[in-house]
Amino acid sequence: MIYFDNNATTAVTPAVFDAMLPFLKEQYGNPSSIHQLGNQARVAVEQARGRVAKAIGARSSEITFCASGTEAGNFAIAAALQQAKLAGKLNADSNIVITAIEHPAVKAAAAWFGKLYDVTVRVVPMHFDNGAVSPAPFADAIDANTLLVSVMLANNESGLILPVAEIAALAKSVGALVYCDGVQALGKVPVDVKKLGVDMFSLSAHKFHGPKGIGALFCKRGLKLPAMLHGGSQESGRRAGTENTPGIVGMGVAAERAAACDTVVIAALRDTFEQGLRERLGDKIHVNFADLPRTPNISSVQFKGADGNLLLIMMDQQGLCASTGSACSSGSLSVSPVLLAMGLREAEAKGTIRFSLSRLTTRDEVDRALDAVVAALK
Ligand SMILES: Cc1ncc(COP(=O)(O)O)c(C=O)c1O
Repeated sequence: MIYFDNNATTAVTPAVFDAMLPFLKEQYGNPSSIHQLGNQARVAVEQARGRVAKAIGARSSEITFCASGTEAGNFAIAAALQQAKLAGKLNADSNIVITAIEHPAVKAAAAWFGKLYDVTVRVVPMHFDNGAVSPAPFADAIDANTLLVSVMLANNESGLILPVAEIAALAKSVGALVYCDGVQALGKVPVDVKKLGVDMFSLSAHKFHGPKGIGALFCKRGLKLPAMLHGGSQESGRRAGTENTPGIVGMGVAAERAAACDTVVIAALRDTFEQGLRERLGDKIHVNFADLPRTPNISSVQFKGADGNLLLIMMDQQGLCASTGSACSSGSLSVSPVLLAMGLREAEAKGTIRFSLSRLTTRDEVDRALDAVVAALK
């Protein structure tokens, strides 16, 4: 198989696997236990916390491990609203602001918690100005009653890199909190939470060659938020529950390597892939978003007049794994709302395939992927 679906998930690397293994076998202690086995686990968890913190320019004490990017996103939104309610700040004009291209982990959570707390969710459309996202619609949407602004750093379907620092500054000018979904960013773009100016930032290990079921939330020092889960005193009381030691250890190693990865090599392979498609398929294809700031690993390609889902199945038969943005719900396939929000027409979105490479991708795989695409299209 040729795996070009790394925005869905990535392979665990041998270094990550080797680091995790002892904590599944002989070093199985509970990090909260006082004895030696517990202590070994505690030391490993804290070492991993340091590694994750360093990868995003944070302090160890600002990192809370959790189960996933989805959990982090749900928490960020719920916590901002709970905090506002507890402080007596909710009023008829209270609102939260999100981008039109947020992942469902943010979009659905905003819709749910917004309804629960009677807070309006303002969805900001994507406008592009001189080859970049225009912050103007954010300036229009954010006001004195904005409690939270949620803006992702890198989009999962298009690869678009958003001007988070600029939008965060707008939010800060009215005293709103800022959550940044960073799940697709680490290992693809440099991440420094301080420079971004965000209050919360999420990570998910399985997107950067770590294991599944482990994520982390950066919460800026001094930020007073309710606990993610209530119970024991794990994670400094911020998220109760016995730590997933093997997952945390794997995430630490994966984060360290992702932050150090040379993305120039990935971008060069992606460009070779896109050039190969243009040479072989000419105007039958169009590379979406190539003139926008995008992550180095992604190629969103329109196959004109084709049905993306059918093409995906044909590619799978040729041994190539990729993806479309459409979601299959109750047997019917919908068009990706993200691609539509990015400005594609329905037919263009329907014929779009997302190819996502990783630092493990090789030149030979790029060549074989090109053959597979051409064969599938035939
Ligand atoms: C941008 C973005 N946010 C959040 C998530 C959810 O992360 P997880 O799979 O860890 O729940 C994903 C996963 O695809 C994502 O791409």
